[in-house]
Amino acid sequence: MSSSATPENHSPAPSVAYRFQCIGCASASQSPANDFRCPQCGNLLEITDPAWKTPHGNPESLKSLWRERRLLNQPVDLSGVWRFRELLPAPTTEDLIVSLREGDTPLYELPRSSRSTGIASLYAKHQGMNPTGSFKDTGMTVAATFARQAGFRWVACASTGNTSASMAAYAARAGMRSLVLVPEGKISWSKLSQALDYGALTCQLRTDFDGCLRLLQELVKRAPVYQLNSINPFRIEGQKTAAIELLEQLGWESPDHIIVPGGNLGNSSAIGKALLEMHNLGLLSRLPKLSVIQAEGANALVRTLRETGGKQLVSVEAETRATAIRIGNPASWQKAVKILQVTGGACEDVTESEIAQAKAEIGAEGIGCEPASAVTLAGLRKLLRQGFVKTSETVVLVLTGNLLKDPDFTIEFHRGEIPGKSNDAENRRLDSFRHPPVVVDANLDAVMQMLQRAEQFIPTSNA
Ligand code: F0G
Repeated sequence: MSSSATPENHSPAPSVAYRFQCIGCASASQSPANDFRCPQCGNLLEITDPAWKTPHGNPESLKSLWRERRLLNQPVDLSGVWRFRELLPAPTTEDLIVSLREGDTPLYELPRSSRSTGIASLYAKHQGMNPTGSFKDTGMTVAATFARQAGFRWVACASTGNTSASMAAYAARAGMRSLVLVPEGKISWSKLSQALDYGALTCQLRTDFDGCLRLLQELVKRAPVYQLNSINPFRIEGQKTAAIELLEQLGWESPDHIIVPGGNLGNSSAIGKALLEMHNLGLLSRLPKLSVIQAEGANALVRTLRETGGKQLVSVEAETRATAIRIGNPASWQKAVKILQVTGGACEDVTESEIAQAKAEIGAEGIGCEPASAVTLAGLRKLLRQGFVKTSETVVLVLTGNLLKDPDFTIEFHRGEIPGKSNDAENRRLDSFRHPPVVVDANLDAVMQMLQRAEQFIPTSNA
């Protein structure tokens, strides 16, 4: 990697409208340092843009412009992210855009979970249906575009797996090299294999995610690599579009609750930022409550709110089989606290067996998701018990990753190995959600026998 081939800094051209504003001291700049931290106070930055206005002050014309683009065939319109470009920072030219046709993800009804929770209006916004199988693609298309615009040869991230898979794919499309820092033995093979196939330089570090991120923050001060973690505010901008698209799918009627998993807390910040911007522009008449759910073993935000009222981060030593959210020191915690407070959302944690059950339930809907996404359904059940969510309300769960992202977890769960052999009472409770594979002789009688046995347990619709 030669530094002469990369720019000294990645300042946007002075004519651009967007600014980087510190979330702590509010100082604004047009050219952040490589670590995307405020030079004054070290806090995170967010992007603001005076150009984010509704044409002629009319939200309806913006809604129809976005709807009409669905019929167009330009690459920039075929992307479910760039279709909403009026609310995104603009690159200097459209050919810089690096896209894999991200976004445009389905909003599914969840009939089984509706019946079991009593919530008639229950939906899943499945961000795992993005090109690399997670919500990361919506942010990566924007951040990779600006990395390319700035002329970087190398991009880098610390990751629990999905960011690295997404970054490696977008870097490959843009002809950039990518450096991946992941905690050794703590990410799923499925995600690791994506980074390898997309050609990343993949380093498995003997530390956890938080250690990888610390190291990356030092690295970007020393080497001309562009940081693509969600500390990068361009990532947050792209991830906003999941909320815009969701509201469009709901006919611009706000749901009462949106529930997201919380790890490094970039996604909750992004969805929250979109909700506030849409509300300010008159695209939404009322704000939904945005709630964040974490795994009990990685519940830094829950503890931060409980123990300090959101004033000081309480870091934890993270441990959970939902490896995507195995994060103890979330970078965007202040952004998430703000959005919880503004929307009146809740923050809760759920146990490993609640996660496992919820994941199997989402699977049984014919949809499926990875363990980190399943915290949303587990969290919803907890919020229902607490009376925070009412059965008459409309609820959207944001599923962040595809079922195929973590096959080991799925197989171990169905074989009865999760939540762990020592946990017999929990294992028995979960047995009704398991569908273990069986080895059967290759003859018709044996298969017929299995079918008859299964009939006793799985009633058919006309049984
Ligand atoms: N769900 C999935 C599937 C994830 O991969 C992540 C984060 C989250 C939820 C949490 O989102 O960090 O924005 O609060 N994965 C990151 C990664 C950390 O490296 O792939 P968050």
